[in-house]
Amino acid sequence: MVKIAPSVLSANFANLQKDIDSIKNDCEYIHYDVMDGHFVPNISFGYSILSDLNKICDNYLDVHLMISDPSFYAQNFIDAGADLITFHFEAINNDQDIHSLIQYLHEHHVDAGISIKPGTPVNVLLPFLDDIDLVLIMSVEPGFGGQSFITSALDKIEELKTLRHNRSYLIEVDGGINAITAKQCKDAGADVLVAGSYVFKAEDRQKAIESLR
Ligand code: DX5
Ligand code: ZN
Repeated sequence: MVKIAPSVLSANFANLQKDIDSIKNDCEYIHYDVMDGHFVPNISFGYSILSDLNKICDNYLDVHLMISDPSFYAQNFIDAGADLITFHFEAINNDQDIHSLIQYLHEHHVDAGISIKPGTPVNVLLPFLDDIDLVLIMSVEPGFGGQSFITSALDKIEELKTLRHNRSYLIEVDGGINAITAKQCKDAGADVLVAGSYVFKAEDRQKAIESLR
């Protein structure tokens, strides 16, 4: 069954515990968007809030690093309790450094994910597919919640599903997910759906999450 990852970016930061409590029993993952104001034109939060979240829920902590130097900060997010650290291909763009970061995460018993922006083709990921635990397809330009789904993400999901063969990576999609785009992503082969505004702005969050399954 598809896993749902509500994105903390759309929560109320002044009532974070209340918002996490409202979803934590209905979803598998919690998606944590880190933005540095450099890789993307927005600033969200860093690792100290993650370590507080880690104390108030048992969900799998899915950390999405939209930052320019993921290797430099990886240890901070590991220490804060990340279960998965996903970094952007575009932030490193060097095969050897990407392999090193994946290895580093695995040595520290954290799952490794790699993400591509809407304009980046799937084939850049070919050298890493044997080693990676998850591929995150961005279906909006990273930086902000509440944008519309870019449909070319569906072709990328299908391509990754075809490429998987006996590999074990999960396919996650992030941006503009609602009940309609969720169905399209599931049909294409997505394993994990990130949803920010659709879940947190809903009157009934439990119902919103169920409508994505
Ligand atoms: C965007 C973030 C997303 C964002 C999704 O850069 O990576 O995780 O929270 O928000 P929605 O679901 O509202 O598009
Ligand atoms: Zn994200």
